[in-house]
Amino acid sequence: MIKKDNLYFPPEKFKKSAWINKKGIYQEAEKDPIKFWEKIAKEAYWKKPWNLAFEHKAPYFKWFLGGQINLAENCLDKNLEKKKDKIALIWEPEPVEEQPRIFTYKELLKEVNKAANALKKLGVKKGDRVGIYLPMIPEVIISMLACARIGAVHTVVFSAFSPQALKVRLQDTEARILITADGYFRRGQIINLKSNADEATKETKVEKVVVVKRTKNEVVWNPEINFWFEDLLKNEKEVCEPEAMDSEDLLFILYTSGSTGKPKGILHTCGGYTVQSKFTGKIIFDLHDNDIIWCTSDAGWITGHTYAIYSPLLNGATTVIFEGAPDWPTPERWAQIIEEHKVTIFYTAPTAIRMFEKYGAEIIKKYKFSTLRLLGSVGEPIDESAWNWYFAEVGKGKCPLVDTWWQTETGGILITSLPGIGPFKPSFTGLPLPGVKIDILDDEGKSCPVNKEGNLVILPPFTPGMLRGVYKNPEKYLETYWAKYGTNTYFTSDGAFRDEGGLVRIVGRVDDVLKVAGHRVSTGELENAAAKHPDIIESAVVGIPDEIKGEVPIIFAVSRKEKPEEELKKGIIDQIKKEIGPIALPKEVYIVEDLPKTRSGKIMRRILKRLFTGEELGDLSTLSNPEIVEKIKGKMQNLNGKNKS
Ligand code: PRX
Repeated sequence: MIKKDNLYFPPEKFKKSAWINKKGIYQEAEKDPIKFWEKIAKEAYWKKPWNLAFEHKAPYFKWFLGGQINLAENCLDKNLEKKKDKIALIWEPEPVEEQPRIFTYKELLKEVNKAANALKKLGVKKGDRVGIYLPMIPEVIISMLACARIGAVHTVVFSAFSPQALKVRLQDTEARILITADGYFRRGQIINLKSNADEATKETKVEKVVVVKRTKNEVVWNPEINFWFEDLLKNEKEVCEPEAMDSEDLLFILYTSGSTGKPKGILHTCGGYTVQSKFTGKIIFDLHDNDIIWCTSDAGWITGHTYAIYSPLLNGATTVIFEGAPDWPTPERWAQIIEEHKVTIFYTAPTAIRMFEKYGAEIIKKYKFSTLRLLGSVGEPIDESAWNWYFAEVGKGKCPLVDTWWQTETGGILITSLPGIGPFKPSFTGLPLPGVKIDILDDEGKSCPVNKEGNLVILPPFTPGMLRGVYKNPEKYLETYWAKYGTNTYFTSDGAFRDEGGLVRIVGRVDDVLKVAGHRVSTGELENAAAKHPDIIESAVVGIPDEIKGEVPIIFAVSRKEKPEEELKKGIIDQIKKEIGPIALPKEVYIVEDLPKTRSGKIMRRILKRLFTGEELGDLSTLSNPEIVEKIKGKMQNLNGKNKS
C-alpha cells in the first residue's frame, strides 16, 4: 500500500484490476443518484423491467416500481451459465476432524430447489413468513435461498438467541414454519438447538418444525409436527421455477434492537435489496470471479445475510462459512481457515481483531496469508491501534482495509472508501459510496463543519436496499428514523464527524443501543429481562468501554427483598440468558438501594456511566434523590476494591 501522510492508497497493481479505480463515479452518481442506481440495477436480472425508478411519499420510499425479480434466481441460475462447476460455498465445520462440505453453483441450486419444493409441499406460499433458527451450516443458506425462490419471507434468528428471544420473533411474524437443527458444535460442546426450538414454539403459530440433522444428538420428536430436513428433500424435484416477485414485495424481516425493550422487525424488499447487495459487494470487496470471501458474521445478523450469503453469490464468487468460534480449538483456527481455503477477502469485526491481537503476534507470524488481497471491518468503531495491527499483521501491509459503516436498516454498506481508490485512514470509515447522500447535523439540523461531531443522517433518494418499514409498527418506524429531523431525513442514531477530506469517522450510537462485541442490544432489552426476575424492582443498564468487546453492559438493580447479593446477581444473569441469550451478559451487576432519578422519575443512566468512567458527574440538582449517587459510588469502590484484592 502507498502511504501519504496519514492516508493509505492502493498500489498500482490493485488499482489496475479493481472494478472501480476512477473518482469520476462519485460525480456521476452525485449528478443524478436515481439515474445512477437505475444503471446499477440493470446489472441484475429482472424478469420484468421497472417502469418507475423511485417514488418518495415520506417517510416511505420505493425503488424500481413495477419491476419483477427473484433474488435466488440472480444468485444461482444466472451464474450457472458461466459458472456451473465453480464453487459457490465452502463450509468449514467446527470439529477439526470433520471434512468441509463444498457446493458448486450447480449443486447449490439443486439443493435450494429441492428445499423450495419441500417448503411448498408443507404449504408455504408467497408472502408467508418462515422462521430460520439454524447454526452456520450450509442448510441456513439453502433455506434462505429456498424462501427467496418461492417468495416466502424469511426471518433468520441467531442460533445463540434464547428460546424466549426466538419466541418473541415467531410471535411477531406469525410464522407457521420453523427450520432448525438438532444441534451444533460450539467450543467442542453440542448445543441442543431442537430443545430450544421446542420451548420457543409454544404459544406461537408454528405448526411444523423442520429439523436439519447436524449433530445426531438425541432430540424429543413429535412426528405430527416434526420433519427431518433431509427426509423432506430426498424425493423432491431438482427444479423449481423462481417466483416472479414485485420489486417492492417483502424479501425478509430481520429483528434488531432499538431504544426500547422490544426488538423491531426491519423490512427489506426484493428489488432494491438485490441491486444494492450485488453492487456494494462488487465495488467494496472488489469481488471477481476467482475471489473467495470469508465474512465471519453469523447468518443471524444483517452482515451474514448480505456479505456472507447474498452478495458473494450475486457476484458469482465463492463464500466460506464457519460453524465454530474463530479461536477454537486453538487461537489460530481463523488463520488456518484463511490459509486452508485460500481466502482472498477477509471481513470481520473489531472485536475479533482485538481478540486475535491479544493472543499475540507470535501466533500469526508463521502465517503468510499470501492469498489475502483485501480486508474489511464492520459493526463497531475500529480504533487506530486495532486498525494498524489488522493492516500490518493480517494484511501484511499490502491489502486495502475497508472499514464499512452500515446498519441492519440500510441492508448494505453505505460508507467506506473504495479499495481501488482509497484513501484509507485508520479509525475513519471513509467516504459515502457513490449514490449515497449523507450529512452530519447538529441538534438544530444544521450541517456540522469539519471535525465537529453531530448526528449522521441519510438524505433522499436514500438507497434501494434501505428498510421499507418496521413490521406491523409504522409508529416505531416514524418515531425512530424520521422524527428527529423530519420525514425527509433518515436519522441513523450514530454520532460522527468528517475530516478535511470528507472522510467520516463514526463515534458511536447516540441512543440507548450498545454494541457488545459488535452485537446490537439495547439497554431497554436488558433492563426488561432483569425486571422479569421476581426479586428485582427496577434496574438500569449502561455500556462501558471494554478492551476486547468494545463495549459491555453493566447493570444496577434494585431488589425487592433482602437476599444475599451473590444470589441476586446470579439470578439476574440467568434471567438475561433466558430472555436474550448469552450474547450480551453484564460485566458487573451492582445491587443498589435506589437509582438516580429526576423529579419526573427518569433514570439518569448518564450519571451511572460517569461513576464508572470517573468523569465529572455534572449537575446533580435535578435529581430527586442526589444522596443515592454517593452511596452507589461507595458501593462500586468497595466491590471494585474487593475484586482487585
Ligand atoms: O453504531 C453503528 C455500528 O453498528 C450499528 C448497526 O448495527 P447493526 O444493525 O447490528 O449492523 C451491524 C453491521 C452492519 C451502527 O448504527 N457500526 C456498524 N458499522 C460500523 C459501526 N460503527 C463504526 N464503524 C463501523 N464500520
